[in-house]
Amino acid sequence: MSRRRDGIARRPAASALVEDLARRHRAGEIVLLDALHAIQDRKGHLPRRDLEALSDRARIPLAVLHGTASFYPNFRTQGPPPRVQIRVCTSLPCHLAGSRRLLEGLRASCGSDPRVEVRGCQCLGLCDRAPAVALNGKPEGPANADAVLAAIAEGRVPRAARPKRTPSPSLARVRRSGGYAVLERVRKGEWDASGIVAAIKASGLRGMGGAGFPTGMKWEFVLREGATPKYAVCNADESEVGTFKDRAFLEHSPHEVLEGLLVAATVIRAREAVLYLREEYLSARANVARALAELRKAGLLDAGPPIRVVVGAGAYICGEETAMFESIEGRRPEPRLRPPYPATVGLWGKPTLIQNVETLVRVPQILRRGPEWYRGQGRNGSAGLKRFAVSGQVARPGWYDAPLGIPAGELVRDHGGGLRDGRSMKALFTGGLASGFLSEDGLSTPMDFDALVRAGAALGSGGVIAVDSSVCAVDLSENCLDFFAHESCGKCTPCRVGTEKLLRMVRALQADGAALDSGAVDDLAETMIDASICGLGTTAPVAFRQALARFPEEFEAHARGRCPTGWCGR
Ligand SMILES: Cc1cc2nc3c(=O)[nH]c(=O)nc-3n(C[C@H](O)[C@H](O)[C@H](O)COP(=O)(O)O)c2cc1C
Ligand code: SF4
Ligand code: FES
Repeated sequence: MSRRRDGIARRPAASALVEDLARRHRAGEIVLLDALHAIQDRKGHLPRRDLEALSDRARIPLAVLHGTASFYPNFRTQGPPPRVQIRVCTSLPCHLAGSRRLLEGLRASCGSDPRVEVRGCQCLGLCDRAPAVALNGKPEGPANADAVLAAIAEGRVPRAARPKRTPSPSLARVRRSGGYAVLERVRKGEWDASGIVAAIKASGLRGMGGAGFPTGMKWEFVLREGATPKYAVCNADESEVGTFKDRAFLEHSPHEVLEGLLVAATVIRAREAVLYLREEYLSARANVARALAELRKAGLLDAGPPIRVVVGAGAYICGEETAMFESIEGRRPEPRLRPPYPATVGLWGKPTLIQNVETLVRVPQILRRGPEWYRGQGRNGSAGLKRFAVSGQVARPGWYDAPLGIPAGELVRDHGGGLRDGRSMKALFTGGLASGFLSEDGLSTPMDFDALVRAGAALGSGGVIAVDSSVCAVDLSENCLDFFAHESCGKCTPCRVGTEKLLRMVRALQADGAALDSGAVDDLAETMIDASICGLGTTAPVAFRQALARFPEEFEAHARGRCPTGWCGR
């Protein structure tokens, strides 16, 4: 806040836009993220004077506002953007597809042009089209340097990323095939909450966002809570590396997601249903917006709790449920200490049911077709269906619906088309980087929660990334640690310092042959696993330690100055 000559603080001038946003924020119509997006959409960045005015009018301390806005990679608080911002994804599937060369090439070509900014970034959710780039916020792929440079030279780079619709079934078509019939029956009271919970429990449905918690039990916990109001949240922030299956649901079947969310909100008698959506998913955002407009027009939103859509701003940690609540509430999205769990103290401090997109999609399907139908979809003793995102060095990257329990190797061969060039498997990540990986000898493992844990991996988000034998285990470790170090929110020391230290150790080995101190690695990793606040810190060292245990000779070769596969170019 500026000061007059007599030292008295002067209220900052506010534009009409900021006045309006502050008013709507005070009235609870919008959350802080909405206001920040609106300013950035209009101005291209977040000017200091607008933040000061918003702080003043919305009565949010400026330090809180700055701390929050500057946390998110997609908000620009350091002045206006250059004409073209190029972000090149360097996360594993894109790395395997040559994103490092792409990034270096673009830097070399554009480095001297002040109107162009070239940066690396983490997963853009387009891993099936690797290597992916974002041009002024619009993700595309597979990208190559010549095409990007031509787009810039010919002025074909959009000024800003705008949500754009892609074909998805209309409400009329969805309803003709039985869509929203379950919601209507629930609203009419034809199913009571205990019957619904019993059906979900009988189906064996577990959370598809990462942790695999039994869904029926979670609904029961929230229903049991006496405190009100309650909230239902759909976690559509999907940012785990190699994971794009929620994008597919949101783009191709937004009504299935919305029906699942509305059923959940109705059953727990939520005051509000919130869908927290990843910013980069432009088509998903447009298709969800259209689906909501159709529902509103058809009167299907008149009964039951309202739906609020909140758009994230590029921080992976917002997918962690308690960080998401902080984000929606307008604070820095740092995970909370648990317990209490969200079922008791969640969004706005109230009992909250938070589920992944895919989990919610399954609920109306189970209620419509019966829990036995869902259970029967599985194989090898597993219950249910899973949408897998398959990427990396496979012939046919993409998303595939398959039975839970399908052997990992079969999924890669029959759906992903097998490894390219007939190579053997070095590492198959089964649920994003956080899951750890299977080696060639583990490919008969059923893709299911418990079987994968027994094999030292995890189903996690179902983001399957295939890495073939040409890749060096040291480079693989570097890439995984780089992601976690970048995305650590920094709240707790074991994760903030541990991810950085492990990354530095691997980089020193890769660059200078500095041998790893395996005792120090173990100490750091154990501390991270024991003492980190959230799952990011506890899973960050997993893949690195597996690589070290399974391919020790590759780490030793690097310490002698040689990359054993030639992948690292030395
Ligand atoms: C670092 C981190 C990131 C996460 N990201 C996501 C995510 O993008 N989407 C998601 O559904 N769950 C994510 N989760 C899991 C959520 O915290 C939560 O368990 C999930 O939304 C619950 O829904 P479910 O039971 O349907 O899986 C993440 C967890 C952690 C620790
Ligand atoms: S474990 Fe990492 S991401 Fe999680 S709270 Fe701690 S610092 Fe933040
Ligand atoms: S888009 Fe690059 S790894 Fe996902």
